[in-house]
Amino acid sequence: MEHATQVELGRTLFTYIDRGEQARSATPFANPVRDYICRDQAARERDVLFHDHPLLLGMTGDLPNPGDFFTNDFTGRPILVVRGKDGTVNAFLNVCRHRGAKLATADLAQGCAQTGGSFTCPYHGWAYGLDGRLLGVREADAFGEVDRSTHGLRRLAVVERNGFIWVRPGSEEPFDPDVLLGTLAPEMAAYGFERYSHYETRTLRRAMNWKLVIGTFLEGYHIKVLHRNTISSLLLGAQTSFDPYGRHVRMAVPRAGFETLRETPEHERDVLKHTAVVYELFPNTVLVWQGDHMETWRVFPGNTPDESVMHASLYIPEPAATDKAKRHWDRNMKLLLDTVEKEDFPLGEDMQRGFHSGAQDHLLFGRNEPALAHFHRSVHEALGLQEA
Ligand code: FES
Ligand SMILES: [Fe+2]
Repeated sequence: MEHATQVELGRTLFTYIDRGEQARSATPFANPVRDYICRDQAARERDVLFHDHPLLLGMTGDLPNPGDFFTNDFTGRPILVVRGKDGTVNAFLNVCRHRGAKLATADLAQGCAQTGGSFTCPYHGWAYGLDGRLLGVREADAFGEVDRSTHGLRRLAVVERNGFIWVRPGSEEPFDPDVLLGTLAPEMAAYGFERYSHYETRTLRRAMNWKLVIGTFLEGYHIKVLHRNTISSLLLGAQTSFDPYGRHVRMAVPRAGFETLRETPEHERDVLKHTAVVYELFPNTVLVWQGDHMETWRVFPGNTPDESVMHASLYIPEPAATDKAKRHWDRNMKLLLDTVEKEDFPLGEDMQRGFHSGAQDHLLFGRNEPALAHFHRSVHEALGLQEA
């Protein structure tokens, strides 16, 4: 976030603190329960949001060196992302062109993997370069003429920019991340996430719709109640800001130490140090700035509307070189997982079951939950659904 934007945000948050207020939308919002349980809508989301739409599948820090790669099956297509010898990132369908075996396996939860400079298919041993070219066919004379130029790995559109690795799962059609992020692009660039290191990723599966997982992060209203014994003392959840950027959202919550900023002249204020900033990067990523590091929640639909799978990741400003640093980041990872896994998600799974009970056909988002309404509106708009 640029410093001028931080100063502006700081002013807004002080106004909320002084008046005991927060950002509010003009009206409450009624969101249909079918949003979370309808199979037709889920199928459409798969097509529009997880096939055609570019997604944030990783960060620069996930692939520090040439030959580093990870795979991702969560979009519905098997995807292989690898840093080439020249340092550029390539993305392919993770499918061997001989008979379709899965070429490589490396979920980010195990950390990125290293190839020795090429991929060898585990089935019959065909070999591919980091640029996807077919390098070797075992017992080639059995195949007659295999045109190597047309039997490389199927490419997907991928762009690495400002620390983000975006992939379009469904095709090679090019895209521009700055257009995707729109007015949020300069703010994201200013963080310098390309310098951040990957600390840890966990793969979590939950019996909740993927949008319900995202919604967990999009309001501060619940902090005082659900998180009263954990993070409530760390955050002023009732003084939350809300700024829409196209389909994306930024929400900022002052941390307990925010008051100390009053003594500092505005041009010297490190607002980010004392603020938790939550971004919803449309469609499926929640990025949380935590004062001196950041976490991402990249959430995907499961096999039914009632399931989801996600990567929860921690990224840090420099590699954790000492045991002391590791203990520090382990504690951060534990705090973020404990709060969400023990408090938000069990409650969310109960909600998901309740959606099928017939108790109601709409949920209510209050005027104090504007980011939640904005996210669901954005999904509806992208899917071409009528507003409720
Ligand atoms: S399927 Fe890959 S070499 Fe046969
Ligand atoms: Fe929460």
